[in-house]
Amino acid sequence: MKSTNMNGSSPNVSETGRTIVIGSSGFIGRFVTEACLDSGRPTYILVRSSLNSPSKDSTIKFLQDKGATIVYGSITDKEFIENVLREHKIEVVISAVGGEGIMEQLNLIEAIKNVDTVKRFLPSEFGHDIDRADPVEPGLTMYEQKRKIRRQIEMSGVPYTYICCNSIAAWPYHDNTHPADVLPPLDRFQIYGDGTVKAYFVAGTDIGKFTIMSINDDRTLNKTVHFQPSSNLLNMNEMASLWEEKIGRTLPRVTITEEDLLQRAQEMRFPQSVVAALTHDIFINGCQINFILDKPTDVEVCSLYPDTAFQTIYECFEDFAKKILDNVKAVSKPEPASNNATFVPTAKPEALAITAICT
Ligand SMILES: NC(=O)c1ccc[n+]([C@@H]2O[C@H](COP(=O)([O-])OP(=O)(O)OC[C@H]3O[C@@H](n4cnc5c(N)ncnc54)[C@H](OP(=O)(O)O)[C@@H]3O)[C@@H](O)[C@H]2O)c1
Repeated sequence: MKSTNMNGSSPNVSETGRTIVIGSSGFIGRFVTEACLDSGRPTYILVRSSLNSPSKDSTIKFLQDKGATIVYGSITDKEFIENVLREHKIEVVISAVGGEGIMEQLNLIEAIKNVDTVKRFLPSEFGHDIDRADPVEPGLTMYEQKRKIRRQIEMSGVPYTYICCNSIAAWPYHDNTHPADVLPPLDRFQIYGDGTVKAYFVAGTDIGKFTIMSINDDRTLNKTVHFQPSSNLLNMNEMASLWEEKIGRTLPRVTITEEDLLQRAQEMRFPQSVVAALTHDIFINGCQINFILDKPTDVEVCSLYPDTAFQTIYECFEDFAKKILDNVKAVSKPEPASNNATFVPTAKPEALAITAICT
């Protein structure tokens, strides 16, 4: 068993402690790896050799150019992982694997247990508090897998931090695993239920930044870190209004009922049905807001780091609006001044430009 004292203390993670990220070619893993590199820590990334994807290749190249050291291999090989951790004197292991990789973390826990240098493990969480939330299937199966990983970590005595960062700041499409890769709607909003249930929307860069801040913090040792910035707590109606303000026009709102979401979950299409199940849990059940932080293991990130601001959803939408403009500039030449764009007099300049382009 790994050496943590009964009083919860453990050897501190140093500010320059060597860190390995598993899953850095993935959606969440890239944000975490970039933040790790930005923090100045020696950063290793475990990469499976058979990526077969140009976008993953370019992510890995980007991270390597930024200073990451690549180690080729898979967490399915426990002995190999153990050697990597020992050889590179890794202090922090961050996993951001998805899908089948969740259960493969059992190997990782076994390897970490046997290597003395590792002072903190962050398993692949990066969502809700899976001991509290209770989605319908097939979301539930994924949560049960993540729960098994938590119990195994706790049983083995590996020092850990669970990151519950809630939703990524983006339009919460119910059929897309990575909504931050998709622009918010320009035709119509799909609003879940009556659109009044709130959720926390956190920018991917902030997920990375606060995850890295938490790894050498004694206050997060063997704790669940909840991301609950009050500035980023919005319901879908508010999100829609904010985006309308940004693009300078109103869009029709279509209701997606609770039954619609449950039906999409029951279709068992992967990964869409998992996302539908979680969307139901967030925007119908209110799984991000229907509990209080009353366990001794709960810590809240804004209380830990009150002087570090979160990117607001408005700023995130600004970035999406800029992307739209850039995309349009890239594919179109300027229209003559007499085009039939619908201008909204109160909108900001970038909103006017988007309105002109998108109508
Ligand atoms: N809060 C949110 O809004 C949100 C959104 C999405 C995901 N999440 C959560 O974030 C976590 C990561 O999900 P994701 O969607 O970012 O995952 P993803 O994009 O599918 O990426 C998974 C990564 O793990 C790597 N991987 C998988 N199995 C591996 C193995 N055996 N050995 C080494 N690397 C392995 C993959 O490598 P390859 O490139 O080789 O496949 C890839 O880099 C999950 O826990 C998920 O539930 C949260």
